[in-house]
Amino acid sequence: MSLTKPSALTENHDTVAFGCGDPAVDSWLRHHAKDHQQERITNTFVILDGSTIAGFYCLATGAIERVSTPSRWRSRRPADPVPLMLLGRLAVDVRHQGRGVGARLVRDATMRALTVRRMVGTPLLGAHAVAPAGQAFYRHFGFRPSAVDPWLTLLPLQNAAGPPA
Ligand SMILES: CC(C)(COP(=O)(O)OP(=O)(O)OC[C@H]1O[C@@H](n2cnc3c(N)ncnc32)[C@H](O)[C@@H]1OP(=O)(O)O)[C@@H](O)C(=O)NCCC(=O)NCCS
Repeated sequence: MSLTKPSALTENHDTVAFGCGDPAVDSWLRHHAKDHQQERITNTFVILDGSTIAGFYCLATGAIERVSTPSRWRSRRPADPVPLMLLGRLAVDVRHQGRGVGARLVRDATMRALTVRRMVGTPLLGAHAVAPAGQAFYRHFGFRPSAVDPWLTLLPLQNAAGPPA
């Protein structure tokens, strides 16, 4: 297995052969990811095994009400809304699960979110879980449930950025 670094989804990528075990996630990649990429609604990034997609995630921007943010984080922050980067969907093909691909995708998304934070100021990375297993996966990487929506988990990017330079 020789995997590429995460890179942007293109028209040439085969999204049909991908299967992560969740039909709704597979269907989104197959039917919507390229259109959304073209329209710049979301950006999808893929790790390839040869010409097949081993894993992917998509990034978008968003905002949430301050009341949804972790209470300790919220105390020193100004009023609504709080801008954030959003990990909309993240999945690994069943043939590649359990080999660190998911972790590489989360790391890559976090690095890109940190770049955006430096440029325009987005203090949080949010991730939407599609099932309890997804929630547990994100918790493993330090994301915590939003105070309002249990399916939305949040990672304060200051925790991922290390000490200020
Ligand atoms: C959840 C998913 C992305 C994990 O991908 P993966 O490539 O198998 O995960 P990795 O091998 O990179 O695992 C990285 C770490 O996360 C842990 N982990 C993996 N799945 C986990 C889960 N469901 N709950 C808790 N921890 C999990 C692993 O044990 C590993 O721990 P380590 O750092 O101590 O070694 C994959 O199973 C998947 O695509 N599932 C279907 C879609 C889905 O649920 N997406 C996520 C939310 S939208």
